[in-house]
Amino acid sequence: MKKLSARRRHPLAALVVLIFALAATGGLYAAFSPAGEAQADTAEHSIAVEEGMKLYAVGCSSCHGTGGQGTEAGPSLVGVGAAAVDFQVATGRMPMQNPGPQAPNKPAVYNDAETAQLAAYIASLGPGPSVPEPGQYDPAEGNSARGGELFRTNCAQCHNFTGQGGPLTHGKYAPNLHDVEPKQIYQAMLTGPQNMPEYPDGIMPEQEKRDIIAWLAAVNSSEAPNHGGFSLGGYGPVSEGLFAWTFGIGVLIVASVWVGAHTAKARKS
Ligand code: HEC
Ligand code: HEC
Repeated sequence: MKKLSARRRHPLAALVVLIFALAATGGLYAAFSPAGEAQADTAEHSIAVEEGMKLYAVGCSSCHGTGGQGTEAGPSLVGVGAAAVDFQVATGRMPMQNPGPQAPNKPAVYNDAETAQLAAYIASLGPGPSVPEPGQYDPAEGNSARGGELFRTNCAQCHNFTGQGGPLTHGKYAPNLHDVEPKQIYQAMLTGPQNMPEYPDGIMPEQEKRDIIAWLAAVNSSEAPNHGGFSLGGYGPVSEGLFAWTFGIGVLIVASVWVGAHTAKARKS
């Protein structure tokens, strides 16, 4: 006992204790941290980034620049995020084929794995919105009545009353939204492709996006009720007004001709 307390006062005692303490914390950390898993994840991620870089060099760099900085033929992709890439590539808009007022959607050129690799590479160039999780755009989680209101105030001016789409200026158009997948509706709101405004979470929270998705799913389902009996294509007041005018006035004309013919007959007899 005497020996130990004598050593305690030794000038190197503090150092020895410190080394022991450090070794113990290090050992405990190594034993309990999920380092193996994290390393595997990063390795997988860097492979995706590398593969994406190769695909990008072949398919995209001619317009978007070798490092995504943009050229005269295409905008910079630094900071657009994985969500924008997933939307543009999965809907076939990118790679763009013909220069024109708008990149149309067409059958996708890349498969899901390649799309994810392109997205991983472009996301590595700068921070941007990531691809949403299924829970974020599940129509079952949305309130379709509220979604209808939000759609009429935010989207109907371009996409029409039930999302049939419509023309914009300079040969551009807002596409028909029937048959667009929930994930892509979510990503379009998040990233604002081309002439469409962006609706980031600060402006339109996740729940409101889900409400809109729920409403679009409800109006486009084949079981959607048609409360007027006859939808007239769902184009809203213009087509409904036109129908009322032509059909309504037509009936009035027929009625007055009939009345006229009958009064003439009645006078003769
Ligand atoms: C022929 C030229 C061309 C090619 C090839 C091309 N793009 Fe584009 N890309 C464009 C143009 C032009 C735009 C802008 C469209 C607009 O805003 O009207 C664009 C827009 C985008 C956007 C949207 C950016 C944003 O701000 O939201 C993404 C993402 C994108 N491209 C990714 C790709 C990827 C990935 C590839 C390769 C698979 C690719 N592009 C190939 C011309 C091209
Ligand atoms: C200023 C007009 C404008 C407004 C407002 C607008 N959009 Fe768009 N939207 C567009 C245009 C233009 C495109 C086509 C972009 C393209 O082709 O890349 C588009 C594309 C889309 C697409 C992609 C469709 C497809 O075929 O893949 C979806 C989904 C969409 N919009 C949903 C919405 C929703 C939901 C709102 C309201 C929150 C909204 N938009 C508001 C103009 C608009």
